[in-house]
Amino acid sequence: MKPVRIGLLGLGTVGSGVVRLLERNRDVIEEKAGAPVQVVRALVRDPRKARDLGGARPELTTDPAEVAGAPDIDMVVEVLGGTEPARDYILRALRAGQFVVTANKDVMAEYGADVFEAARAGGAEVWFEASVGGGIPIIRPLKESLGANRIQSVLGIVNGTTNYILTRMTREGMSFDDALREAQRLGYAEPDPRNDVDGIDAARKLAILASIGFLSRITPADVYTEGIGSIGPRDIEHGRRLGWTVKLLAIARERDGAIEARVHPAFIPLHHPLAAVSGSLNAIFVTGDAVGETMFYGRGAGDMPTASSVLGDVIGAARSLALRRLLGGQRPEAAPYWPGTVLQ
Ligand code: NAP
Ligand code: HSE
Repeated sequence: MKPVRIGLLGLGTVGSGVVRLLERNRDVIEEKAGAPVQVVRALVRDPRKARDLGGARPELTTDPAEVAGAPDIDMVVEVLGGTEPARDYILRALRAGQFVVTANKDVMAEYGADVFEAARAGGAEVWFEASVGGGIPIIRPLKESLGANRIQSVLGIVNGTTNYILTRMTREGMSFDDALREAQRLGYAEPDPRNDVDGIDAARKLAILASIGFLSRITPADVYTEGIGSIGPRDIEHGRRLGWTVKLLAIARERDGAIEARVHPAFIPLHHPLAAVSGSLNAIFVTGDAVGETMFYGRGAGDMPTASSVLGDVIGAARSLALRRLLGGQRPEAAPYWPGTVLQ
């Protein structure tokens, strides 16, 4: 079987995790992908930086053209972060016909429609499970397994950094700044941690989930957003006395044909299941008219959980790529979904 040649855009927390997990579980991954999986090259800013790659030695480059659009790369895994230049590289790769796997909620939330249009133009596919919920499968279940439902609500904790900060502040009285520093050291925080603290990351994730769940194009600008910057020890103590704990919640609901989407801190009773979701864990409740309430729970941030989602997408994308090769370059009928875009 022809190998799948991967080019990484970024080799930081998530990118290094992807390389290490591929080394560790190569037999399982290749069995499921149906082909050998090779990380050929990785785009970085600083090729001299020390990196823990578990013995793998991908070629490093500072030239994006050696990955996005490069003729020897079949699949691009984008784990740079931020909007630009990540958006530009993703669009270039898709237009050149390379399949893209991305963990980038900034790009998917703001420019999902452009990304799918570029994929359609290039006859390529985009996979983005890792953009929401770290290691929790939520994008594909929402699109596929729960696809027969009219989704009524999506609600939960979708940011690991803020949940980690609030957990340490609540349980140990740690200061906000110390807890944030620790979240950064553990690789949970965004390259710019204000995106976590101010609720922006959660709003982007909610926009992606709501877009898919409610078959509507919902952008972060449609989400009322408030972060955890104003939460102090007095609020936490006040809540504790009343039997409450504070969490940053992301909530999207359909009411009378309109969609309400918001991210804000909220006191929840200690007996509520979300109260027990601690540290970098995330939990998302999805309610559908047929299935009722479902809960998705697991590690929402960090190198290995996120690498798990990225490589799960690599497996799915590799199988789809193999099918296309078998069909002589034709696109199979099954089409990835993004609200309002033409099916591929
Ligand atoms: P990170 O540790 O900061 O890594 C970013 C990588 O991209 C680094 O290797 C960096 O190169 C490279 N890079 C950034 N800008 C570049 C540019 N302009 N040109 C060339 N290389 C560039 O970030 P991360 O935590 O891995 O996050 C990556 C993506 O995954 C983000 O979209 C994030 O939202 C998403 N994500 C992260 C997590 C998590 O837990 N960390 C979970 C889910 C999703 P150098 O190494 O040379 O600096
Ligand atoms: N910074 C993000 C978080 C990473 O803390 O949830 C996972 O998307």
